[in-house]
Amino acid sequence: MCGIIGYSGNLEAGPVILSGLKQLEYRGYDSAGMALLTESNELYLVKKVGRVAALEKEIDPSILSHCGIGHTRWATHGGVTDTNAHPHCAGKVVLLHNGIIENYHTLQKQFGFAQTAVSQTDTEVAAQLIDYYYNRCKNPQQAICRAVDLLEGSYAFCILFTDVPGKVFCIRSVSPLVAASCEQGCFVASDLTALIAYTNRYFVLPEHTLLCLDRTGMTLTDLQGNPVDPDYLEVSWNIESAQKGGYPHYMLKEIYEQPEAFNRTVTPRIRNGLPDFSEEKIPDSLLQSFDKIRIVACGTALYAGMIGRSLLERKGKIPVEVSIASEFRYDPPVIDDKTLVLIISQSGETIDSLAALRLAKQLGATVISVINVKGSSIARESDYVIYTHAGPEISVASTKAYMVQISVLYLLAARIFLARGILTPEEVRTFIGNLGNAEKSISSVLEQRAEQIRHLAEKLAHCAHAFYIGRGMDYAFSMEGALKLKEITYIHAEAYAAGELKHGTISLIEEGIPVVAIATQDSIFNKTISNVREVKARGAFVILITKEGVHAAEDFCDIQIEIPQVDDFFTVFPIAVVLQLLAYYTAYAKGYDMDKPRNLAKSVTVE
Ligand code: M6R
Repeated sequence: MCGIIGYSGNLEAGPVILSGLKQLEYRGYDSAGMALLTESNELYLVKKVGRVAALEKEIDPSILSHCGIGHTRWATHGGVTDTNAHPHCAGKVVLLHNGIIENYHTLQKQFGFAQTAVSQTDTEVAAQLIDYYYNRCKNPQQAICRAVDLLEGSYAFCILFTDVPGKVFCIRSVSPLVAASCEQGCFVASDLTALIAYTNRYFVLPEHTLLCLDRTGMTLTDLQGNPVDPDYLEVSWNIESAQKGGYPHYMLKEIYEQPEAFNRTVTPRIRNGLPDFSEEKIPDSLLQSFDKIRIVACGTALYAGMIGRSLLERKGKIPVEVSIASEFRYDPPVIDDKTLVLIISQSGETIDSLAALRLAKQLGATVISVINVKGSSIARESDYVIYTHAGPEISVASTKAYMVQISVLYLLAARIFLARGILTPEEVRTFIGNLGNAEKSISSVLEQRAEQIRHLAEKLAHCAHAFYIGRGMDYAFSMEGALKLKEITYIHAEAYAAGELKHGTISLIEEGIPVVAIATQDSIFNKTISNVREVKARGAFVILITKEGVHAAEDFCDIQIEIPQVDDFFTVFPIAVVLQLLAYYTAYAKGYDMDKPRNLAKSVTVE
């Protein structure tokens, strides 16, 4: 939520910040703003409701500056207005923020800031507080340290002082910030996508340290002023990976990147045909010793977790519970040092998943996280991290991250089966062989089904409601399919366990209502088909997804989409692509911006 960037260096700061904001826009896109300290040491401030493109139109290109900050907002406190857009000013302080200051109201009252506040945001109080201390101590670092000491909540701040030329000060608690320094100058941003055009070497700003960017370099200190050595990280991807590469939308590009992302994630973790987590230093003794598994995640990552549960329980008879991260803390979890907790997150910054991780560790559980963004908060705080190698996922709708999360869960499950003697090495090799083949089934849907799905989507685009039904694993796929459709097409979509429909929801089925019925599990195929007949008999427009070679009679389906003949455990891979394409092309037919759906942001860093 919210993307922030700060720069000090030899380049013109305005264009640097603007292009960084374009890369960060997927994090929030209600409004955007920028502040520059000009060559003549004046403040140039511009903020505007709407996308970064709207801000760009407002910027005066004649302003010369080498130091500035920029923000793209996802509103939490205060409506979407120019005034509430960041940066916020108080006296000599110009500040932008990602996070939530939970005690802003108390501070406002305590310091009497309400009278001078111009916005309705929680952020302004932080600017006021820093200015309050700056007026007393005249030292930027001290003023920031004294102010943040009083703040509760989460924050990543970039701060300018109008009488301190050329410097950007940064500090964070919970909310992410990464920093880099290279020939062109010093940069700080919410994530690496804004910096990758300049360097692939960066560090994650440690919490409660103070970073100062200057034209000539940067300094990192603890809150007492002692120097801190940053831990540098490197990524192998480049600026092209974070651009559209000829595709009309990031989402489509990311859908088509799945075979590659799958290979990058799976292949290096197979040795002698067996899953191998020696790189991640995950000992077999850990995989042998737990009593149960608890998977915790949000949104698409949660639905990936549900697939993992099916595999672990059905094939391994291992008890697994899946929890929505935002509920986990408030429904006190029964876990202890015999519980293995798996946190799944693309961004590694989702606040509810991070809080769940911290609670799980407090309760004595060992945590393995499955994360895409290197060095993210969840990755850093987990006992073990398995990185997925999806590359940057820019579209708000998660696609390739889901695919690789599932593939990691499959590898991990297979290693658990091996370590616990649930499967013999030969059986595990066969399983891993099937997993390796999943890439072909993903590619085959991309090559052979996209056109059919595009035509179908044109029909779906006219509907107000849709249902996704399935049993067992097909039900878990349905949930992800419905989420994908609703988040980018704004069609009300619900996933239902096929057999549960007749306990209430079937009353909503009427002439022409689309029902996406997923029937890829051989053992329950006929049961699902009975439920399909029930909705068809009530007038539903049935889109049936089956394995190849299943003859679907017209009396129970209107359109059939076939996926390759693979073992039941592996249908998730081609099915995911079908459901993603269906959502993508429906949003396309409706003319929506599926990369930046309304009200959403890529990474949810507020509760
Ligand atoms: O970064 P995370 O994987 O923790 O994010 C979790 C969800 O916010 C995310 O999957 C969300 O549901 C996507 N928009 C779904 O497409």
